[in-house]
Amino acid sequence: MASLLVDLLCPSCRRSFSEVPARTYCLECSRTLLARYDMEAAKEKMTRARLRGRPGDLRRFEEILPIRTVQARVSLGETETPIVRVSDPELAPGGELLVKMDGYLPTGTFKARGMAIAVSKAKELGQRSLFVPTAGNAGAALAAYAARGGLRSLVYMPEGAPESARQQVELYGGELRTVPGHIGDAGRLGREEAARRGAFDMSTLREPWRAEGKKTMGLEMFWALGREGMPSAILYPTGGGTGLLGMHRAFSQLREMGWLHDFPRLYAAQAEGCAPVVEALRRGRERIAPVAAPKTSASGLRVPAPFSSEDILAAVRATKGGGVAVPEEAIESSVRRFMGLHGLSVARETGAALGGLKILREEGAIDRQERVLVYYTGLWMG
Ligand SMILES: Cc1ncc(COP(=O)(O)O)c(C=O)c1O
Ligand SMILES: [Zn+2]
Repeated sequence: MASLLVDLLCPSCRRSFSEVPARTYCLECSRTLLARYDMEAAKEKMTRARLRGRPGDLRRFEEILPIRTVQARVSLGETETPIVRVSDPELAPGGELLVKMDGYLPTGTFKARGMAIAVSKAKELGQRSLFVPTAGNAGAALAAYAARGGLRSLVYMPEGAPESARQQVELYGGELRTVPGHIGDAGRLGREEAARRGAFDMSTLREPWRAEGKKTMGLEMFWALGREGMPSAILYPTGGGTGLLGMHRAFSQLREMGWLHDFPRLYAAQAEGCAPVVEALRRGRERIAPVAAPKTSASGLRVPAPFSSEDILAAVRATKGGGVAVPEEAIESSVRRFMGLHGLSVARETGAALGGLKILREEGAIDRQERVLVYYTGLWMG
């Protein structure tokens, strides 16, 4: 495979790391390592004609993804997901509403993007056993890709995680531990066992490759819509924030290749009961302040202290986007309204993005005429 990966960079101390031995994050700065590629070579090699001739999956962008060997590639047949155009007088009164349906990916959520790449890379780097703390869906995705790749998975979930995710982990042959508290507690407790057992830590943004997989969210969107068809604003239901980071990196690399000039504004939609990213954006803080008692029915958004939040906040600010905190009732009613009106399955988390769009329109942050994309991160899971 033709990866043009060069190294990993800490955005804080600017130290460069080689990809081996398998890296987690910059231990000195507590920041996510950023994969760098030879973008000059990418410009030459990634011609439109070449890309057009490739399979419609994550391999289309292989030069700017990290997998080097075909044998390491772990795939469940993930495909480019459709963008559905929706006519919705309330949410898109004068413009167009686009919905990117990542619920159609393996295991029913966009977590498949990150895990397809990160599990492949971990396998390539010689890891045999993988650990993740999760609100639910990332655990299901890890267990599925690990099963496919012949690796072991250890998954820590809060007790309140959705039953479907718990069942999936076990059915995919993962080792499941449920613990009291939230995803932060699952991480703390799980990391002890993972370290003891030599399982590689795949926690959100504590290793570099899941965010690289999430980059395909932005690359694929551009590929499908073209420069002229891109939305001017994107709403993304934000927990740990990998999607924001991934999309911003995609747009930056597309700009480096001369393909995209104006970035869509990225908006972080969170639940009112757990909105550290939105809070930090509103207060102009450089990093988030942890939420003491996170509370929301959208379990994927119950992330009280996203890791490397400096990078998430910087990504949103670089696009001149913002954040919106959505009340629980609005999450609930948005799911119900949208599924009934349009027949498109909506995860609770995505309900926050839909509810957030309504609020941002009312506030005037998003104009009536704009073309808006709501990122559908998953299917309804109960
Ligand atoms: C369906 C769904 N949407 C959104 C999110 C939030 O994703 P992230 O933590 O990458 O911001 C999650 C996370 O669990 C999720 O499961
Ligand atoms: Zn550093």
